[in-house]
Amino acid sequence: MTARYITSPIYYLNAEPHLGHVYTTVAADVLARYWRLAGAKVKFLTGTDEHGQKVAQAAAAAGESPKEYTDKLSKRFFEMCRKINASEDVFIRTTETRHHEAAKALWKQLEEAGQIYKSSYKGWYAVRDEAYYEESEIVDGKAPTGAPVEWMEEASYFFKLSAWERPLLDYYEANPRAIAPIGRRNEVLSFIKGGLRDLSISRTKFSWGVAVPSDPEHVMYVWIDALTNYITALGYPNVEGEEFQTFWPESIHLLGKDILRFHAVYWPAFLMAAGLTPPHRIFAHGWWTHDGEKMSKSLGNTVNLFELIDTFGLDPVRYFLMREIPFGQDGDYSDAAMTQRINSDLANDLGNLVQRVLSFIYKNAGAKIPEAGELLGVDREMLAKAASLHEVLREDMENQALQAYCQHIWEVIGEANRYVDAQRPWSLKKSEDPKDITRMETVLYVLVEVIRHVAVYVQPLMPDSASKILDQLGQTERIFEALHTPLKSGTPLIEPQGLFPRRG
Ligand code: MSP
Repeated sequence: MTARYITSPIYYLNAEPHLGHVYTTVAADVLARYWRLAGAKVKFLTGTDEHGQKVAQAAAAAGESPKEYTDKLSKRFFEMCRKINASEDVFIRTTETRHHEAAKALWKQLEEAGQIYKSSYKGWYAVRDEAYYEESEIVDGKAPTGAPVEWMEEASYFFKLSAWERPLLDYYEANPRAIAPIGRRNEVLSFIKGGLRDLSISRTKFSWGVAVPSDPEHVMYVWIDALTNYITALGYPNVEGEEFQTFWPESIHLLGKDILRFHAVYWPAFLMAAGLTPPHRIFAHGWWTHDGEKMSKSLGNTVNLFELIDTFGLDPVRYFLMREIPFGQDGDYSDAAMTQRINSDLANDLGNLVQRVLSFIYKNAGAKIPEAGELLGVDREMLAKAASLHEVLREDMENQALQAYCQHIWEVIGEANRYVDAQRPWSLKKSEDPKDITRMETVLYVLVEVIRHVAVYVQPLMPDSASKILDQLGQTERIFEALHTPLKSGTPLIEPQGLFPRRG
């Protein structure tokens, strides 16, 4: 059986969840739901990254202990997952005991493999990014990301990252799909080719973290701790266990472009050094701006997702995020763009198709799935177009091409709307000729079959709305496999209700 292990990043607990966080979680959720409906064994992991100086500082600023603070804020991220209808199998917190154990086990394994040594670190650190920067990267006294940096000098353990330059390049050479999109892959390769320096992986100036097993004066650098979450959730260090064996080879990490280096350079190096295989695929998506500006707490223009969903509705927000920009590129959020998408794609295209066809059948054609008579060429073409989604959409999902997934479904919706206009079932209804009535029934059957396909494939994007459509069609079999059996005539319809109100 196919397996898929889909992960989002785990979120820092230094601020309320916003659109940027939701984006990756929704994308991961869409993939997880798709693969479950495709019959795969799926594990979808998300959670919170709770250690490190940045979180400790946020707790101090809130006047709370890190423990109180993280317990409270982690709940907000958990609520965010409920709010966006995420179907995660595991919501991990790095403060859990099992995670501390896993992070320590990885450390020990690296130590035993001779990959860690003690020395001292001198250099620039940006707490906001939880990242070290080279002198050459500092611009006007700041990190290249604009984050303030501080000079750090302390005793530190180092990971021999420099030894992994060649193995990483060889690995990526042999596995061209390991990093996507291609532009990001090229960035990573040139970064590695530019030379890797050993990485400082412990800190002594604060204690909010996982203690280094052999030297508890040190806490682990937050990224070595955080990245380990991906294998903690699979039962690491039990790498022989079924969870690890099933899911690790099928891992897909989704993350923003800003944290690609950690995932595509440090993480595979840690894993290889510990005798494990690198993640199967890493997909870096772009960043959202808001009305053309970078979202930031200081500008006060982050998009609050709780408000966003209350205003526009959950499914429209989920759809918008997946449809508006190609997964992998940057894009802009604006209320106007959201409204435009809702009115055109949801109200006019999908909503209108479903509403006019189902209301018509409900009122004028016996309120049940019609009987198809002889199929004409146009009918066959329409049905074939819907059936072809199966392969096309699978390919999109193998490539995490989430926007293309939407576009391919909406092409069929567009086709179906043109088919209704051309076949005019309502005109056929007015005829006295029984042949016209049979033709009307055939046209309606074709349309309901197309709507069933569309609704089944829309489920990962908009689970509630798709479910409403399938309820109205009286369909209980909703996995992709069910589409191989033709739609049964005679099933009663439930009174159709509008799905996506237009917005002014
Ligand atoms: N804790 C680390 C991840 C550890 S994973 C082992 C972290 N957390 S974060 O909360 O700062 O960011 C989480 C994710 O949100 C990142 O993938 C980041 O790219 C994403 N985004 C934050 N702002 C964003 C936008 N404005 N747009 C799109 N994604 C953005 O980094």
